[in-house]
Amino acid sequence: MSIDPAYLNKFIEVTERAAFGAYRHIGKGDKKLADKGAVDEMRYQLNKIDMIGQIVIGEGEMDEAPMLYIGEKVGTNKGQVLDIALDPLEGTNFVANNLPNSFSMIAVTEKNNILSAPDTYMEKIAIGSNLPNNLLDLDNTVGENIELLSKAMNKKKNDITACVLKRPRHENIINELKKIGVKIEFITDGDVYGVMAVCDEKSPIDIYMGIGGAPEGVLAAAALSCLGGQIQTRLVLKNEEEAKRSLKMGIKDPKQKYNINEIIKGDAIFCATAITDGKIINGIKEENDYFLASTYALHKNKKIKKKITNKIKK
Ligand code: FBP
Repeated sequence: MSIDPAYLNKFIEVTERAAFGAYRHIGKGDKKLADKGAVDEMRYQLNKIDMIGQIVIGEGEMDEAPMLYIGEKVGTNKGQVLDIALDPLEGTNFVANNLPNSFSMIAVTEKNNILSAPDTYMEKIAIGSNLPNNLLDLDNTVGENIELLSKAMNKKKNDITACVLKRPRHENIINELKKIGVKIEFITDGDVYGVMAVCDEKSPIDIYMGIGGAPEGVLAAAALSCLGGQIQTRLVLKNEEEAKRSLKMGIKDPKQKYNINEIIKGDAIFCATAITDGKIINGIKEENDYFLASTYALHKNKKIKKKITNKIKK
């Protein structure tokens, strides 16, 4: 089974409009307002689409998120039955402070094909396409993984670029990478970009490693599953409360490592519209009554991998 290809343009429109919703609040220093701009617009657009949609990864659980919460039904209740992972604004700091690499994004699969991950942290290791399956492993040392990647890519270790989220929790990874001589591209937020970049011809990033949000890990996996990349993940649960929440979401073994095909099964659509300018795609531009929106638009089974820019009436 596949997702009806006609849905791709509809979801592109969803992230374009949501991106513009956040763009209105760019550089105003207000993360919440920017997020709300994207959330309101995304929900409105989703509910116009003929589909029986359900949110699997959203803004939070029903009691903490009034809109686009996990389990919320979206769409007109006719059409294909679809599961949805979304992040109306990935990089709230970036929009609030007018910094690069913020996106509005959505991933869509058929029913029960997205890992239902709790809103906790997740270990992630990701690499690009055309490499042996399941090449790297979270239980290897940083050195072992870089060695394997260097051989598989036929690239010297000190020519490899790794992307790492700048956080104290990554001190060990950063020190190991420095010792080996790997180049590091640090990001301050927005690790979906860091993961997607392993498959982008405009980016030097060969590997992403570190701990970030679990919902973002699932979204990034959807992008990579369309682009042919690889990711392995494992939840990081801080306390009893997080363990209970993850059990409630159906995670039986919290220590399980998930490879890409266990996170996203079957066909997938992924759309990410840039809000602020980014390294791999331009942000929103305004022109009188119109705005220009650039989107990474992917459909796995249709082998569609494109970056498109649309001119849209406000
Ligand atoms: P926002 O939710 O503010 O957009 O932040 C997203 C993000 O930077 C993710 O890309 C990343 O996975 C996570 O937050 C990192 O979390 P933390 O800031 O707690 O290290």
